[in-house]
This record gives sequence, structure tokens and C-alpha cells, in this order.
Amino acid sequence: MTSSLVSILGILSLAALLIKWRVWATNDHVINSVTFVQTHKPSGQFLHEFDGDEQLHVDLDRKEIVWRLPEFGHIFSFSAQIGLGNIAVDMANLNHLIRQTNHTPATVVAPEVTIFPKEPVEAEEPNLLICHIDKFSPPVINVTWLRNGQSVTTGIDETVFLPRDDYSFHKFHYLTFFPSNDDVYDCVVEHWGLEKPLFKHWEPEMLTPPSEIMETIVCVLGLVMGLVGIIGGIPLIIRGLRSGDPDHRSCTSHLLQEIFPRGS
Ligand SMILES: *[C@@H]1O[C@H](CO)[C@@H](O)[C@H](O)[C@H]1NC(C)=O
Repeated sequence: MTSSLVSILGILSLAALLIKWRVWATNDHVINSVTFVQTHKPSGQFLHEFDGDEQLHVDLDRKEIVWRLPEFGHIFSFSAQIGLGNIAVDMANLNHLIRQTNHTPATVVAPEVTIFPKEPVEAEEPNLLICHIDKFSPPVINVTWLRNGQSVTTGIDETVFLPRDDYSFHKFHYLTFFPSNDDVYDCVVEHWGLEKPLFKHWEPEMLTPPSEIMETIVCVLGLVMGLVGIIGGIPLIIRGLRSGDPDHRSCTSHLLQEIFPRGS
């Protein structure tokens, strides 16, 4: 069942066209098909979302479906041709609209950027830094990771442009990392809405590594507690031995009674 709920976003001179279809819906769930085309890179994108989460997109270079989770590919099937066809048609429409609107440029909306770790940060425990770039338009952006001011190109990943309900976009960039007190990170975002590149800084709160001092303290504490136990136990043993023992109870049972008196 396909109800056509088509919305057209805007025309840019830097022109772009965003089209959202409701392809399937129940009372609780919605699958939308979202296509955009524009005169800048990336020139287009076709995506299916389930309740706002990406389900699949079409890789335009390899002309194939990329499932957000590989498991989806075993359950569902979809033809990349549908996406490519949509993009071709929309591109033709975009060119028509550019002429019709006399090259009217669209509004540029700057992104909001937040950066946060996926897991609670612990020294040398592998973790993932997430850079969330939100509420921007058009979908033309440069994002880079810096570790101690140096560009990082390994252990990185990113999503495609994810459409928001207000017809702007958001996007996630990821960086795997091993937390250390010596390392600081930046997610650097370039967008036409920003006067200069936006550096979103992140560094771990002071981590307490298991240093030699810590180990020594733990060792000494253990030794002291052991000694306290022995010294504290000796009077109990002596008392147990001294108090007459008519029933020939074992020392242990006597000790137990000393520790957990059941009342006499
Ligand atoms: C992204 O980087 C390229 C190459 O440095 C640059 O030409 C382009 O203007 C940048 N895009 C944005 C949105 O800043």
C-alpha cells in the first residue's frame, strides 16, 4: 500500500530537492522513502527509514543496496534500481525547478554539533567517540577527526545524511579510541552555515590508571587487614581453649559459638 505523502523542500542555486514518501504504515510504525538531489556533492541520496531509523540506502557509485544492519539483507529485499530511478527522475525535476524559480537559492541552516563517548570511559578500555551533527541544510558537509590536533583517518565511520522531520538533516561520525589522559579529540565540522570550521572538543575526565602507587596502596591495605584479622582472632582462640570443654567440642565449633552466640 503506497499513500503518496510527498513533500518538496526547497530550491537552492546550490539547488536541492528533498522528497519524502510514506511507503508503508500501521498505527504504530512508518516506513518512509526519502530522496534528495542537489547540484553539489553528494548529488543525490536514496534512503528508507523505519520509525526514523535508517533501514537502507543506495550506494550510488556501486549501484547497490547498503543495509544499515547486514542482518536486514537476509530478511528484506529491495532493488537498487528503484532508488536510482527515483534519483534520476528527481534530478530532472530539480533542473526544471531551478529554471522555473530563476535560480532562487535556498536557506542555509548551520549545524549543531555534540560529541560524546558511547560507553562509560575507562582507561585503556576500547570505546567509540560519537560526533552528532544535527539540524543542518543543505546536506553538504566536511567532517574530520583530530587526535591531539593531528588528523585521524583510521578507525572512523559515518552514517549517510539522515532526514529530520523538519526537512533538515542530521548525521553521525564515529571514531574508535582507547581512552588515555594524554589524548584529546576534536570533531571538526565545515558547513556553509558556519563562518569558520567548528571544532567540537572532547577529552576524558581525569582517568586513574592502575599506577604503581595504587597497587602498593592496595597491597599494604590487604596486608594490614590480614594482620588485624589474625591479631583479633588470637584472643578468641585463647578464650575458646581456656573455657572448660566438658563436651569435647572441637575448637572450631567453639569458635563459631564465640562469633555467633546463640544465647546461653
Ligand atoms: C569541504 O572541503 C573541500 C576541500 O577542502 C572544500 O572545497 C569545500 O568547500 C568544503 N566544504 C564545505 C561545506 O566547507
